[in-house]
Amino acid sequence: MESLDYGPLGVELKRNVKDAWWREIVTGRDDVVGLDAAVIMHPRVWEASGHVAGFTDPLVDCKSCKQRFRADHVQGPRCPECGGELTEARRFNLMFKTFVGPVEDTAHVAFLRPETAQSMFVNFRNVLETSRLKLPFGIAQVGRSFRNEITPGNFLFRTREFEQMELEFFVRPGEDDHWYDYWRQARFEWYASLGIERERLRLRPHAPDELAHYAKACVDVEYAFPFGWSELEGIANRTDFDLKRHSEHSGKDLTYFDEERRERYVPYVIEPAAGADRSTLAFLVDAYDEDQVEGEARIVLRLHPRLAPYKAAVFPLLRKDGQPERARRIYDALRKHFSVDYDQAGSIGRRYRRQDEVGTPFGITIDHDTMKDGTVTLRDRDATTQVRVPEDRLVEELRARIETPAA
Ligand code: GAP
Repeated sequence: MESLDYGPLGVELKRNVKDAWWREIVTGRDDVVGLDAAVIMHPRVWEASGHVAGFTDPLVDCKSCKQRFRADHVQGPRCPECGGELTEARRFNLMFKTFVGPVEDTAHVAFLRPETAQSMFVNFRNVLETSRLKLPFGIAQVGRSFRNEITPGNFLFRTREFEQMELEFFVRPGEDDHWYDYWRQARFEWYASLGIERERLRLRPHAPDELAHYAKACVDVEYAFPFGWSELEGIANRTDFDLKRHSEHSGKDLTYFDEERRERYVPYVIEPAAGADRSTLAFLVDAYDEDQVEGEARIVLRLHPRLAPYKAAVFPLLRKDGQPERARRIYDALRKHFSVDYDQAGSIGRRYRRQDEVGTPFGITIDHDTMKDGTVTLRDRDATTQVRVPEDRLVEELRARIETPAA
């Protein structure tokens, strides 16, 4: 069973992606609140949501080589690997099953959540009663989801456990089209503001026969991956489908009383549903570049500074004359504010290249002049230009540069 793990730099990159999303969607707004719900929910939640009956992929098996394929990924009646005869398509539920407690029987079956969305619907009433929010408002969550994908692949693009970043934005019926337009623009812009080239991003509306059973409209933000245009995020108008279904199954009232209009209704939901791993992959692929600096080839990750695993790296030019000690002091001071690396091994050129390759946007070099006047050089990864900055202004200088949105 294959699985993918993030190493020391990958985990920083992915955390920065999730933090950037949280800041944009939750803390940067006054109409969205966060949630952190359980992965294993009551199994009846998945009956209400339609996942037990309908969260399936059609599967075919090759009678000769025994390989299994998604029916919609195979063209024609023969096996794409060996040309053998294929079975009729069967529906295969993608949810991971487990048992709650020590008894492994059907009464104790539970599922790992295949999306974070449902916990936001079942907590709608709790959030409404405890937060004093008025419509329109949203509930957002970042967390792990699990799907027993038949064809995981393309590195982080499709895996069996992954993290989602989902927003359920509740609106008055009739205002749903407006908010649907708003969120699809806002979500497109988010990727561009964090440095993804606009030509490699597009919004692709779903055709009517592609729409999920709950959706009135859906559009995907797609990225031009090396393996072709593929979905990064879906923005769906889920109507009042989910709240109605959960209300029917639980017997709980999930209506909203609109004080201004003196009317009661079931809100509609606009759902921007993104993947943390997929976006991380897109940011990584988009940032990769090879160029020449002073006649020498280099690999550079042009990550937006907010996403870069290290914001800066500190280098003493020489390993003598008090420079390493001074550099260490600067490194320790910066580390209180940012994730920063320290490197004193090898030529300064090689140290710059190492940081370019992992996307560190700023290099800080402590040299002979630092010891005299307290200034350091601040090198820009992309332009490879350097300016001198007083060491006591470094935090401000770095902060201003990190926060600048992509052009
Ligand atoms: N609540 C709606 C929902 O879950 P989805 O399009 O199935 O919609 C939303 O999933 C996002 O989650 C996708 O756009 C993708 O970024 C991510 N995602 C879904 N399945 C994934 C998988 N197997 N591996 C990695 N990311 C996945």
